[in-house]
Amino acid sequence: MANEFSGKQAGQVDKSRLPRHIAIIMDGNGRWATRRGLPRTAGHKAGAETFRKIATYCKDLGIQYLTVYAFSTENWKRSETEVGAIMTLLKKYLLEAIDSMERDSIRLKFFGDMTPISPELRALAHETDEITEHLDRRDFQANICLNYGGRDEILRAVRRFAADCAAGTRKPEKLDDVAFSGYLDSAGIPDPELIIRPSGELRLSNFLLWQCAYSEFYFTDALWPDFDEAEIDRAIVAYQNRDRRFGGVK
Ligand code: IPE
Ligand code: IPE
Ligand code: MG
Repeated sequence: MANEFSGKQAGQVDKSRLPRHIAIIMDGNGRWATRRGLPRTAGHKAGAETFRKIATYCKDLGIQYLTVYAFSTENWKRSETEVGAIMTLLKKYLLEAIDSMERDSIRLKFFGDMTPISPELRALAHETDEITEHLDRRDFQANICLNYGGRDEILRAVRRFAADCAAGTRKPEKLDDVAFSGYLDSAGIPDPELIIRPSGELRLSNFLLWQCAYSEFYFTDALWPDFDEAEIDRAIVAYQNRDRRFGGVK
C-alpha cells in the first residue's frame, strides 16, 4: 500500500511541532507469526516487545501521551488459547511496570471496561493506577486499551451521564462536548493528533471513535512486530506535513 513516504526518506522530525498524543492500533501480530510458520501467540509476544520499544522511543522523543489498542471488545471471539496468551503477556508487562514506572517516570492508564478482566490482572492494574497517581501529570503517559471499544466507551459514558441527570447533579441541556469528554475513559487527556495503524488495514476497528474527530491518520503495511522507530518518525513527519484546517479556511 502506498503512503506519502513509501520509497522515500522519512525526513526529519521537527521536535518543536510534535503531536502531544499518538494513538496506535497494534495490528498484524497474527500474520507476522503465520508468515514465519509460528503460532499466532508468538506474534503477540513479539508485538509486546515492539510496544516496549516504541513506548520508550515516544517518551524519549518528548511525546506526552501514547495510547495503544491492545485488546478490543470484539477480540473475545478468538480462541481461548490466544486470549489467554494475550492476558498472560499483559500480566508480565504489568509486573515489570510495577517495578519500573516510578524509576522511569512512566504513568500508565487503562481504557476499557475492566469488569470481565481476571481479578488478578485487575489487581495489578489497580497497583499501576496507584503508582500513576503519585507521578507528575507532566510525565509521559501510556494508555493501554484493554477490552476497549469506542462504542462501549461512549455507552458507558452515556449511562453515567444519565445516572447523574437522574440524581439531579447534571442537566441534559447543559451537556456539551467538553463535559461529555469528561465521562470518557480518556477524560482529561487531549484527543490524539495522530492515529497510526500498521498491517495494511484501512479501518478503525472501533478505536477512539469520539476522540478521532480531527485526528490525522497514518497507515502503513508494516506488521506491528516489525514496526520500529523509523516508522514512528515517518508517521510524525507525515503528520507534520498535513494541512490541519479543522473546518476553517486558511
Ligand atoms: C493485533 O494483531 C493484536 C490483537 C488484536 C490482540 P492481530 O492478532 O489482530 O494480528 P492479525 O491482524 O491477525 O495479523
Ligand atoms: C484491532 O485489530 C484491535 C487491536 C489491535 C487490539 P483487529 O485485528 O481486532 O481488527 P480487525 O478484526 O482486523 O478489524
Ligand atoms: Mg488484526
